[in-house]
Amino acid sequence: TVNVPKDKTIDNTLAIFKDGYNFIPKRVQNHHLDVYETRVLGEKVALLSGIEGAKLFYDTTRMNRKNALPKRVLKTLFGENGIQTMDGEAHKHRKLLFMSLMTPEALQELYEITTKYWAHFTKKWSKMKKVTLYDESRELLCRTACEWAGVPLKEKEVQKRTRDLSNMIDGFSAIGPKHMESRRARKRTEAWIEELILKVREGELEAEKGKAIYEMAMHKDLDGRPLDARMAAIELINIIRPLVAISKFITFGAVALQEYPETNTRVSLDDEYLFMFSQEVRRFYPFVPFLGARVDHDFTWQQYNFEKDQLVLIDVYGINHDPKVWENPDEFNPERFVDWDGGLFDLIPQGGGGYYSGHRCPGEWPTIEVLQASFRYMTKHLDYDVPKQDYSYSLRKMPSLPKSGFIMSNVHYKN
Ligand code: HEM
Repeated sequence: TVNVPKDKTIDNTLAIFKDGYNFIPKRVQNHHLDVYETRVLGEKVALLSGIEGAKLFYDTTRMNRKNALPKRVLKTLFGENGIQTMDGEAHKHRKLLFMSLMTPEALQELYEITTKYWAHFTKKWSKMKKVTLYDESRELLCRTACEWAGVPLKEKEVQKRTRDLSNMIDGFSAIGPKHMESRRARKRTEAWIEELILKVREGELEAEKGKAIYEMAMHKDLDGRPLDARMAAIELINIIRPLVAISKFITFGAVALQEYPETNTRVSLDDEYLFMFSQEVRRFYPFVPFLGARVDHDFTWQQYNFEKDQLVLIDVYGINHDPKVWENPDEFNPERFVDWDGGLFDLIPQGGGGYYSGHRCPGEWPTIEVLQASFRYMTKHLDYDVPKQDYSYSLRKMPSLPKSGFIMSNVHYKN
């Protein structure tokens, strides 16, 4: 593969931390191909970008997920042997379980639960001098997630569970104590949820059919056997943990409402605009930088020889900001979605491709639902001041977040 652009340095692991969200974009841009070779942690890695790159990444005949995720990620963010690591028929069967939870009724219920907690929290915030939206929305979403999933949450444990669920997310890429805390957070959370799964199975805890807790507890694998209780817990955590993570998009969205004040009225009144605004928040702001898979067998694509088991990374952030796909990609403009054709490989903040065929996030609709409920509530019913603060965010730090966490003061309910 003579013509394929490559990094000349021996190892670029440190560059990932230096370049952050721009690690892949910086390398692939200005080249004629959608593939670029580099070395990370001693491995030869193919970086993929562009729509064509995304299509290849989600071609399950050529890519798989076995050993695509480092142990440190499985021990914190995802849990071991969960859906993220599966391939083929076993993955499809597990994915159906997740997708079965996303009925229109369930999504409507999620919208309503989210709105209910915004109202509860508004009462609490109106008595506070300063409200840090990122912190508060995590707790708001922890309550929302548990209620929606059918997970009982005791008042005295709310803060601890919120902290653990978000530490699992934030600690996977960290080193030292923060990473170790992330591992402990996962252990505690798995133990908590496993106990609840066992109680549902033994009939000690009532669970409604269609609720995530019930479906995870009762699911049968392809071999006809129920999931191991720990495994069922890991998959249930795969529902509640990412729901809490939506707090990052909410915080970025609050920044957008502040930075682009002309959007506020339409977000509060116009359902179509509310949807487009939520899509633009997911496209525009940095969340997932890239995703990994492994090459299934040797093949050549765009002149590059992919080797069996080679690690491949797809440029998630870069594709959401690709000038070949998006006009003026670095402009925040919800109206770009007016004539968006709903492509499966261009708007990929939560992965690309089909829901059933590959690993695209089954929580994309719930995410949009929670965002719409939140942005509608904020613009319609929340009155607040935004004191002087630094809510800028860095593209170097992964995961990114507005620095101040978005501080509000004088919060009141408005009718
Ligand atoms: C997978 C992002 C919310 C459940 C994924 C993937 C991404 C992602 C990038 C991986 C796609 C791939 O591997 O190709 C996000 C973001 C969210 C979010 C940024 C918003 C904060 C949710 C929610 C749920 C959820 C709310 C559940 C209700 C899952 C599951 C998978 C997944 C179970 C694994 C799917 C599979 O391996 O087939 N998500 N997600 N996510 N997400 Fe989400």
